[in-house]
Amino acid sequence: MAMEAAVALPLFLFLLFSCHVSNPSLAQTPIPRRPDGFVYVGDPLVTDSIQVDAFLDPLCPDSRESWPPLEKAVEFYFPRLSVVVHPFPLPYHNNAFLACRALNIANKLNESSTFPLLELFFKYQEKYYNEPTENMSRASIIDDMAKLAVTVVGSSLSEFLSGFKASETDTAARISFKYGCSRGVSGAPFFFVNGFLLPNAGSPLDFSEWRRIIDPILGIEVLDHVLSYQ
Ligand SMILES: *[C@@H]1O[C@H](CO)[C@@H](O)[C@H](O)[C@H]1NC(C)=O
Ligand SMILES: *[C@@H]1O[C@H](CO)[C@@H](O)[C@H](O)[C@H]1NC(C)=O
Repeated sequence: MAMEAAVALPLFLFLLFSCHVSNPSLAQTPIPRRPDGFVYVGDPLVTDSIQVDAFLDPLCPDSRESWPPLEKAVEFYFPRLSVVVHPFPLPYHNNAFLACRALNIANKLNESSTFPLLELFFKYQEKYYNEPTENMSRASIIDDMAKLAVTVVGSSLSEFLSGFKASETDTAARISFKYGCSRGVSGAPFFFVNGFLLPNAGSPLDFSEWRRIIDPILGIEVLDHVLSYQ
């Protein structure tokens, strides 16, 4: 009983506090002009395709592992799969929000460089892990990311760097994060297919797993001998 009371008081205080912060009239995330995310392929609003929403952290190894099989699935099902990527920076990856912001800057300066930059982050993500950057200033990490980004964006370094000062790229990166939170995303990669969260969220899916998920939705008979050589 004493234990319950000890738990109940902090819980009560927490609920009291959270009622204040979650007042919907105060806590509404700004609603963007277009649905959140970067469209990788297809137009989920127009075509009769299966929509995959991928919440990826550019600095997360499992997100990196999940990307090539998803690309393979996109090729395999083309044009019946739409893929929208939502950058989702995990708070324990110290530089992930900066990387997500860089993606928004790239998207604004040159839309077709968004995914090339995401792939560059996957390729060089180890550079930006917590430990190797522990003694680096935030400014020098931004500088390093900008130098990486301009190789695919095609803008000048100073133009890219000024994107880090623009509040709209900060807002855009926050919106993606908040949108993920509102969908219950708590790790990366998280995948939703036609709005439904796939099991084993937080782990990469390989191509045969994508086939096991998508084939039945499209009415394709899943043949074990087809899957066995994947
Ligand atoms: C960061 O600085 C500390 C103290 O000088 C040093 O021990 C550590 O090896 C440095 N880390 C890196 C990744 O350079
Ligand atoms: C935009 O980015 C793409 C992909 O990196 C690149 O091929 C293209 O040259 C860039 N456009 C400009 C105007 O630099």
